[in-house]
Amino acid sequence: MSSSVKSENLFQKKSCVVVCGASRGLGECISITFAKKFLTGSVFILLSRDGKALENVKTSLQSECPDQLCITKVFDQGIMQQENFECLFDGIVQSNNISLADLEQVVMVHCAGTLGDITKYCKEMTDPKKVRENFDINVVGTILLNSAFLKAFKDVGSKVIINISSLAGIQPFKSWSLYCSGKAARDMFFRTLALEDPDILVLNYAPGPCATDMQKDCREQSADPETKQMFIDALNSGGLLSPQTSIDKLCEVLTSKFESGAHIDFYDEIKQ
Ligand SMILES: NC(=O)c1ccc[n+]([C@@H]2O[C@H](COP(=O)([O-])OP(=O)(O)OC[C@H]3O[C@@H](n4cnc5c(N)ncnc54)[C@H](OP(=O)(O)O)[C@@H]3O)[C@@H](O)[C@H]2O)c1
Repeated sequence: MSSSVKSENLFQKKSCVVVCGASRGLGECISITFAKKFLTGSVFILLSRDGKALENVKTSLQSECPDQLCITKVFDQGIMQQENFECLFDGIVQSNNISLADLEQVVMVHCAGTLGDITKYCKEMTDPKKVRENFDINVVGTILLNSAFLKAFKDVGSKVIINISSLAGIQPFKSWSLYCSGKAARDMFFRTLALEDPDILVLNYAPGPCATDMQKDCREQSADPETKQMFIDALNSGGLLSPQTSIDKLCEVLTSKFESGAHIDFYDEIKQ
């Protein structure tokens, strides 16, 4: 594993920031918060399946940060065709005249994610289509998108990869086998990337329980009564975080000292 690094000037570099899963929830918050923090003249590429929702995020981003360039692109991480990934960035770069030579840094935020089928226990996982779909979206699609990103921006000096992880990637929750195992696989993939390529700064960030659509699904769909109750209690006791609180912490983590490839949770203490 590489040694700890500190990237104090990460936000001061002219960057191209890609956020996959930018249409709502944490990804929307990351897009707008990062747009406010990164050097003006940076480029933001927002990806998700919902073009209309992306346009709304773009409108908010541009009204707060008119000097950042914001590009939206409808993209489905679950479509397992090579050209879905391979042609993505070259097309965006060319059609928007983005000059790669002007960029000091590229940042990829893997925020897209789904819970998969949380209505079943492990022993009930009998539907190959559902199991495969979950891993396609959450694992295979993330890996292919990441490779496409690194290939398209290979000549840009500084590279940062942020995987939005989860406590569920390091701790099992009953009836969440697909989600937990997908998050664990993603974390290990990005830990391996950090080991293979010490020049890339990699972070697996677990955002804590945040008030988003996904949290609502956790409360409503979890098959296991204990798991379900835990999320209902979190809501009723005021234990949910706002996306902004969690993403502010992500920004602090990014400029703190951490080992590339580390899994850092919202509740972890930051090392300065
Ligand atoms: N909320 C929490 O408490 C919590 C806790 C730990 C980790 N996380 C993680 O944080 C990330 C964001 O979660 P969230 O709570 O903000 O969830 P959310 O509100 O449900 O948003 C999920 C995002 O993923 C995108 N997405 C889903 N399937 C996609 C696909 N096939 N292709 C492209 N984009 C896709 C969605 O966009 P479209 O529907 O527009 O495609 C949306 O932007 C996820 O990775 C999640 O696992 C969340």
